[in-house]
Amino acid sequence: MNILVTGGAGFIGSHTLIELYKAGHTAVVVDNLYNSSEESLRRVAQLTGIDHIPFVKADIRDRETLEQIFANNHLDACIHFAGLKAVGESVTKPLEYYENNMNGTFVLLDVMRRHNCKNIIFSSSATVYGDPAIIPITEDCPKGQCTNPYGQTKSMLEQVMMDLQQSDTEWNVVLLRYFNPIGAHPSGRIGENPNGIPNNLMPYITQVAVGKRERLGVFGNDYPTHDGTGVRDYIHVVDLAMAHVAALQVVERRQGLAIYNIGTGHGYSVLDVVNTFMRVNNIIIPYDIKPRRAGDIATCYCNPKKAERELGWKARYGLDDMCRDSWNWQKNNPDGY
Ligand code: NAD
Ligand code: WQD
Repeated sequence: MNILVTGGAGFIGSHTLIELYKAGHTAVVVDNLYNSSEESLRRVAQLTGIDHIPFVKADIRDRETLEQIFANNHLDACIHFAGLKAVGESVTKPLEYYENNMNGTFVLLDVMRRHNCKNIIFSSSATVYGDPAIIPITEDCPKGQCTNPYGQTKSMLEQVMMDLQQSDTEWNVVLLRYFNPIGAHPSGRIGENPNGIPNNLMPYITQVAVGKRERLGVFGNDYPTHDGTGVRDYIHVVDLAMAHVAALQVVERRQGLAIYNIGTGHGYSVLDVVNTFMRVNNIIIPYDIKPRRAGDIATCYCNPKKAERELGWKARYGLDDMCRDSWNWQKNNPDGY
């Protein structure tokens, strides 16, 4: 298939491009490079052995450019990554987050419909479960109250796409609820490249390891978990990328609406991650226990069996691989791209 990849220069998008090409698909990327660099696309081309990845630098809210992209390319489906994703920033800039994530998706869906491309895979998030009612989380676990505007946009956009699919059953909509993506391509050539102080655990750890930050703050050690620190379902970004390729089966089978948790099904605490990182990479990560971070929950991990049953997809990498590959990327690219 020829696939429009919005946000394809970003962390998950760039890894997904590699798996798409490996599986014999082709892609057109649209990205405004707000949180990424075109260098990631050059490296994806090198890693996949193709001349270049077709790329349009544009904002998905720019309807005219999107129209042109659809007019100039035969596109079978869209994998929609483009969006703002910093939870804390979304609390201080709610309008920017609602504007970008909601309006961007509205324009995209409308242009897709006009060009009769009615197949979309959407980057959703475990955040839609709020403080989950069931652990491990299955897809039929009720959605919960999101504590921040970022999470609200994911939850609302899921609803928008479900309503759209119900109104017109020609649509195939796949909602992939990612758990905590970390790791990097094993080559160490592409990876996560956050601007400023990292919000997420793994980029913070790798920046301590590379000497950019002095010490990690561990946010809370009084949660009801095995060691008191927060437990999450970390997933290697290459496994996550492969889940998108597997999700294209929903389009091929004309399945309509499908929702999948994309995680490993294992919960690891903050200290499990820190200790694994230190052991695998033989590096000391100094840390201090800090107060809990507002909005955090104690435990979040999924039951990923539905994706295995219906898509034949299963995470292959473990926490050791994730820690090794995150470090391999950071040490080879201390300043990112
Ligand atoms: P990222 O920031 O690396 O990638 C997103 C890309 O979208 C960036 O390249 C950015 O420049 C681009 N973009 C943003 N707004 C745009 C717009 N209006 N027009 C065009 N391009 C735009 O983030 P990522 O980690 O690769 O995440 C990809 C998607 O997955 C996002 O939708 C994110 O919300 C979702 N997600 C991420 C995580 C995570 O922890 N990384 C977890 C769950 C869901
Ligand atoms: C993981 C654990 C922290 C940083 C977020 C979004 C979620 C999804 C994935 C997009 C928690 C602890 C963290 C640090 C720490 N993104 N931590 N020190 O919060 O589970 O999920 O990213 O959809 O929506 O909310 O990920 O990596 O920020 O935190 O102790 O410096 O690490 O408290 O227990 P989180 P995270």
